[in-house]
Amino acid sequence: MPLNLSGMKPLVNVGEFPFRLLLLLVFLRTMDLVWVKSTYVPDEYWQSLEVAHNKVFGYGYLTWEWIEGIRSYVYVSLISLLYAILKFFELESPELIILAPRMLQGIISSVSDVYFIRWVHEKRNGQYSWAFISWFTTFFVSYCSTRTLINTFEMNLTIIALYYYPWTPKTNNFPFVSIVTLLCFVRPTAGVIWLPLILINISSVRKPVTYTLMSYLPNLILVGGACVALDSYMHGSLVVTPWNFFKTNVLKDIGSFYGTHDPLWYLYCGLPVVLGLQTLPFAIGCFRLAGTSRLSNLKYNLESQMFITIVWSILVYSLLPHKEFRFILPLAPMMIYISSGVLSKWSSTASYSLLYFIGVVMISVHTGALIFLGQFHQTGQLEAMEKLSLAAQNQTDMKIHFLTPCHSFPGYSHLHANVSTKYLNCEPNLDGAPDYVTEDELFFNNSRAWADREYSTLRPCTLPSHIVTFDSVNITNFLYIRNYTRIHRISHAEYFPDDKQGKFVHIYKRRGARCA
Ligand SMILES: *[C@@H]1O[C@H](CO)[C@@H](O)[C@H](O)[C@H]1NC(C)=O
Ligand SMILES: *[C@@H]1O[C@H](CO)[C@@H](O)[C@H](O)[C@H]1NC(C)=O
Ligand SMILES: *[C@@H]1O[C@H](CO)[C@@H](O)[C@H](O)[C@H]1NC(C)=O
Repeated sequence: MPLNLSGMKPLVNVGEFPFRLLLLLVFLRTMDLVWVKSTYVPDEYWQSLEVAHNKVFGYGYLTWEWIEGIRSYVYVSLISLLYAILKFFELESPELIILAPRMLQGIISSVSDVYFIRWVHEKRNGQYSWAFISWFTTFFVSYCSTRTLINTFEMNLTIIALYYYPWTPKTNNFPFVSIVTLLCFVRPTAGVIWLPLILINISSVRKPVTYTLMSYLPNLILVGGACVALDSYMHGSLVVTPWNFFKTNVLKDIGSFYGTHDPLWYLYCGLPVVLGLQTLPFAIGCFRLAGTSRLSNLKYNLESQMFITIVWSILVYSLLPHKEFRFILPLAPMMIYISSGVLSKWSSTASYSLLYFIGVVMISVHTGALIFLGQFHQTGQLEAMEKLSLAAQNQTDMKIHFLTPCHSFPGYSHLHANVSTKYLNCEPNLDGAPDYVTEDELFFNNSRAWADREYSTLRPCTLPSHIVTFDSVNITNFLYIRNYTRIHRISHAEYFPDDKQGKFVHIYKRRGARCA
């Protein structure tokens, strides 16, 4: 039974951009924005907002990735542009500086959501209801859709490229080449996902391989050249960021510095978390596809092409030591395509009451998970930054030390005040020094000893005016005798606290004069 969502005029028509659908989706993503008040990973701020803030307002911390030139400015430029507009119209209040980039990302996600629906609509002859429900009840997608995370933007671009990719019949269709080239700059690992699809395309077009490759070249050169120009302009010298990325992460193996998981992690943990309830229909779909996919007729079968792409990508990602949920986010559209196909087929014989029951379960689990993760899990940082930012607007000689796992708090993009800050350092061992220990590790091995070394030799008036810690660190006595008192205790993750963080964020403030 196809669910009829609109009841009125169809929301999607082949060949025209569905603006009414876009409005609906902007509304849905705005709801996500309202629910999600938590932080997820440091990259969300430090690899996007912070860099843009530095470029536009002249202060902001650049992590080593930006000094080495291994990240592209494509995404940062969008946010810089937004900041520049706010600055130009003198709308740069701290609240707007925080909210506007997330709204922008929410709108970009809504546009890509439209492309997802159009894609399914065109490939399944108008049957998109289950894809719609499945996509918007995948909580991890909702959780990330309004985050200024490069993986979210990568997912957005991937969806648009999937829409333009010539699945069946294979034609010489090039918009997708431009988008994939852009993707490879935005996030070089996108090359992994697109390799099988490009190979399938090249081998199925009835033209010599060199002819097809040559026909890709103009888009490649145009978009690639533009990206190199942008990156080099922003960086200040000629850089090809994907190449630097490759050199650092693969040749120097810096990635494993950030933690390793066992090879099967994506199968038993990564996929189930990212797909949520869709894991079951997706697994069923994969079993069916594994039985029916043949290399010989690949070019006639859309889902087989996706299946091969997903299997290949998960395989490659599983071999890389550093694994995270967000790395497989760009595969979610193809996975949901497959899982919603299974649901759609199943629903044609299921009873109404069962369908409604399943629908209610999907929506409830999604909303429950989103509210929990957005409102109760890892929420301390943003609230703490709000309080610090408010204080920093009036006290320009503020000196804030974050004695927390490195980069677990946002930086100037959330303070929006040029005050002095210190974050524990955790740069990887870029120069290959022997016995390398990061400052962050030193601190967490023995916080008391670290604080003694760091602060005991300072004149009292040069001590930081504010110290921020998680409650997992107890240096209360140490701070107390230096005239610090705790001014805020902010709920952070009371249900599933991380070892290095804890349940609360503590902000201490020092009584006493600063040096003249
Ligand atoms: C920010 O503060 C630093 C240190 O006080 C100063 O050197 C820098 O010029 C300031 N930047 C801006 C844009 O005000
Ligand atoms: C921190 O340590 C002090 C003693 O050093 C103790 O009195 C206090 O209860 C501890 N606080 C927490 C939250 O563990
Ligand atoms: C703490 O405050 C007292 C009284 O205001 C002052 O005498 C003392 O020097 C201060 N100690 C430090 C370490 O700032």
